[in-house]
Order: sequence, then structure tokens, then C-alpha cells
Amino acid sequence: MERVELTDEVHVSRLVYGMWRIGDVEDTSPRHVQEKMEACLEQGISTFDQADIYGEYGAEAILGACLAQAPHLRERVEIVTKCGIIAPFGVYADRRVKYYDTSAEHIKASVDRSLGEMKTDYVDLLLIHRPDPFMDHLETGAVLDALVASGKVRAVGVSNFKPHDWSLLQSAMSNKLATNQIELSVMSNESLVNGELAFLQEKGVSPMAWSPLGGGELFQEARSPLALKLQEIATQNESTIADVAIAWLLAHPSKIIPVLGTNNLSRIKQISNANEIEIDRETWFDIYTVANGCEVP
Ligand SMILES: NC(=O)c1ccc[n+]([C@@H]2O[C@H](COP(=O)([O-])OP(=O)(O)OC[C@H]3O[C@@H](n4cnc5c(N)ncnc54)[C@H](OP(=O)(O)O)[C@@H]3O)[C@@H](O)[C@H]2O)c1
Repeated sequence: MERVELTDEVHVSRLVYGMWRIGDVEDTSPRHVQEKMEACLEQGISTFDQADIYGEYGAEAILGACLAQAPHLRERVEIVTKCGIIAPFGVYADRRVKYYDTSAEHIKASVDRSLGEMKTDYVDLLLIHRPDPFMDHLETGAVLDALVASGKVRAVGVSNFKPHDWSLLQSAMSNKLATNQIELSVMSNESLVNGELAFLQEKGVSPMAWSPLGGGELFQEARSPLALKLQEIATQNESTIADVAIAWLLAHPSKIIPVLGTNNLSRIKQISNANEIEIDRETWFDIYTVANGCEVP
């Protein structure tokens, strides 16, 4: 599996396993989570994506229970987590509204909580989960730098940021922002043309792509024009539509890092098959055209 250098310190696997849905299944036992992680590791997928808010602020603890049982896994993996969203449930059930908090006090407290939940003393990459319209970039930038200096966090980045949000925060930091985790898939592909991806390419930053299979939307209508097109290419490659959709992202020159979220162990075991598929320029545009429902101008 290819590795991507996000910073001098932090390298991630080209495919990442996302743990948003890790608590949505019956079996959340440490043994089963370990089985999923080991299935990833066997394919070279060593990077796991978390957030404080996942599973109503409970998903990090599911990973932590696994790491407590199998502590040797910690040094074999990179853990990404996020902070900044306060939603009125779980630990924040007493709040009146959903809001963002990128204050130094909250970010520090959130990281400490995440470390405790995941039973680790550092995270490899901390992301600010959403751009905060109330952000004091000087305060947020300073606390992110301080967290890197403290060793609790090895690198920092953002998620769902527009280029202007990125530039504002970066202007107040000495560490380089390592990535922007954005929604990106065959179906949600606006960032390819609205400047978001171009901005990251100009900065030499690899984007992480969340919901790279549209959160499962791709499989809901087996006879949609897009599903049929992906199936046609899958058949030519003796593959699956999921693999073709991921290969379409991998083919892009910006070095997109897809963050996959299947909870199905047999699917997890095959995630890396997408690496086997070559998507040439004409095929790439064939898929893009069908996904957008119109020819490029
Ligand atoms: N930064 C952000 O704001 C943000 C937002 C959302 C997500 N994320 C990250 O991105 C990760 C991935 O998101 P996601 O889970 O939406 O990604 P996804 O991989 O696009 O979708 C996963 C969903 O698709 C289904 N699926 C996958 N392969 C399938 C197949 N062959 N047939 C039928 N269903 C299939 C899965 O069901 P099964 O489990 O049954 O396979 C699951 O429900 C998350 O875990 C999280 O780490 C980040």
C-alpha cells in the first residue's frame, strides 16, 4: 500500500479506514474491532479516522477498548481524530443548541478527552472538524501549535474548510496544516472544479475524501445510470462498483486519500482491491460525465 507524507512526522496509508459507523453494529466488542483493524493492517491500511462526536461521542471509546486489549496495535497505526462540534447529546446533552467551539480551552479539553477515550497518549493527526464562523484564528492557531509542541498531537489539519478558512487559520500558525478532509466521491465531485481541490494541489497538500462511496448511496439504485456505468467498468476489470468508484478517486493527480466506512468485515478485507484498477483519462471522463448527467462543455 502506498504511503502519503502529510508532514515530516506523519505519513498515512493511501486508503484510510473511517470509524464513524463503528458503533452502529451489534458487535462492538474489542475482539471484533481488532479483527477489523487487523484486516486493514493486512492490506497496509494503517490509518484510522475518528472524531470526538462519532457515535454520539462514544466511538473513540470503542477504539480505546480495543487498544486497551491489544496495546501492541497502537504503534502499528496512525490515529486521526477531530474536534470542534458540540451537539446536544452524549457528553454535551446539557447544551441548548448545536454549535462549534474552536476556543483554546475547548480544543485542549477535547484532545485530553479523546486521548483518555482512545487509551493513547498521542494522536497522529488532529483535525478541526468544521469551519467555525465564530473562530478566533489567532487563538485557534496558537493552541494547535501548542498541542503539536506538547507531543499530544503529531500534526494538525482541518476538515470541510474552504480555501479562505484554511488561509485564515494557516496565517496564525507556525506548523503547516497537514490536510483538509472534505466530502468527495463520484457523486459529490464539486470540489474538483470549484477551486477547493486546486487550492490544496497548489499547496502540495493531499486531501482526504470522506464518504467516498457516497455513504452507501451508490448501492441504493442498482440500475441508476451511474451504477450501470461503474458496473460496466467493474466487469471489464473483474471487480466491483465500489472498487471502481474508489479507483476513480485514486486516479486523480491530487493524491486523494479516500476514507472508507464499511462495517462489513468481508468488505473490509477487500478494500485495497481498488488499488488494482487503472482508470485512464477517457474512462475517468466517462464516469464523470455519467455522474454529472451531462457532457463536459
Ligand atoms: N470529516 C467529516 O466531516 C466526515 C463526514 C462523514 C464521514 N467522515 C469519515 O469518512 C468515513 C467514511 O464515511 P462513510 O462511512 O460515509 O463512507 P462510505 O465508504 O462512502 O460509505 C460507507 C457506507 O456504504 C455502505 N457500503 C460500502 N460498500 C458497500 C457495498 N459494496 N454494498 C452496499 N453497501 C456498501 C456501508 O455499509 P456496510 O457497513 O454494510 O458495508 C456504509 O453504510 C467515516 O467513517 C468518517 O471517518 C468524515
